[in-house]
Amino acid sequence: MPSRPMISYAHVSKRFGPLVAVDDVSLDVAEGEFLAIVGGSGSGKTTLLRLANRLIEASSGTIMVEGQDVQDIDPVALRRRIGYVFQSGGLFPHLSVADNIGITPKLLGEPDAAIAARVDELIDLVRLDRAAHRDRLPEALSGGQRQRVGVARALAAGPRIVLMDEPFGALDPLTRDALGEDFRDLHRRLGLTTMMITHDMTEAILLADRVAVMRGGKLLAQGTPAELSGSGEAYVLELLGTPRRQVERLNTLLPQSGAA
Ligand SMILES: Nc1ncnc2c1ncn2[C@@H]1O[C@H](COP(=O)(O)OP(=O)(O)OP(=O)(O)O)[C@@H](O)[C@H]1O
Ligand SMILES: [Mg+2]
Repeated sequence: MPSRPMISYAHVSKRFGPLVAVDDVSLDVAEGEFLAIVGGSGSGKTTLLRLANRLIEASSGTIMVEGQDVQDIDPVALRRRIGYVFQSGGLFPHLSVADNIGITPKLLGEPDAAIAARVDELIDLVRLDRAAHRDRLPEALSGGQRQRVGVARALAAGPRIVLMDEPFGALDPLTRDALGEDFRDLHRRLGLTTMMITHDMTEAILLADRVAVMRGGKLLAQGTPAELSGSGEAYVLELLGTPRRQVERLNTLLPQSGAA
């Protein structure tokens, strides 16, 4: 084994009354790894993600972050170390782009000048336009721009881990592609460890190093796309069938690009 995992779930379950939302999941995410979590609606993806930063508390099992049991870390300190990008962007509607991005450093009591400099840096990092966007309210941004603000805000406290809940789900395919590529690049340049939920197997394969498949609260399979294609689980193969069919259809419908 290489270095210890950044995030480690060992036999983790979460029950909501009689419902087992996450069922005995064991999963390691290595430092620098980009892991995608895929699975149908209600399969436990969001619950699994939120257990890592204690937005939800596990019913049983152990979750370690950077080698430390999350139960021994103050939840506020934990969330400072782990950036979180919400599905809908989750921006504060009454705060400007700059104030949304700077909210965590502000809550941490950083001086205003340092926050302003950090906000400018983050606006550049997520490729928004300082002059045009810095002082706008979220309502005056496109969906893609809002998601960029969400990513900037998640990075504001300098986390080493980023959790993303369907961050690009509601966007048109081109914007989604561009944002995915941009984030993948940030992930690499900043040396982040990323867990990203998506219901889109194609997106998972294109962006992630490894893919974890959830179904009915259970972790059905995990591995690189190549490893998953050797899975014995019918459901996993079914999920992998969609990108395959897309490729085949595209290949028959689109003329092959000429001089490559
Ligand atoms: N606070 C809660 N109280 C009761 N049940 C919950 C709660 N949160 C989630 N659940 C249930 O746990 C199961 C898993 O929910 P979860 O949100 O993790 O699914 P998901 O895979 O993220 O689905 P989606 O793709 O629709 O976002 C669902 O059956 C859901 O109804
Ligand atoms: Mg969810």
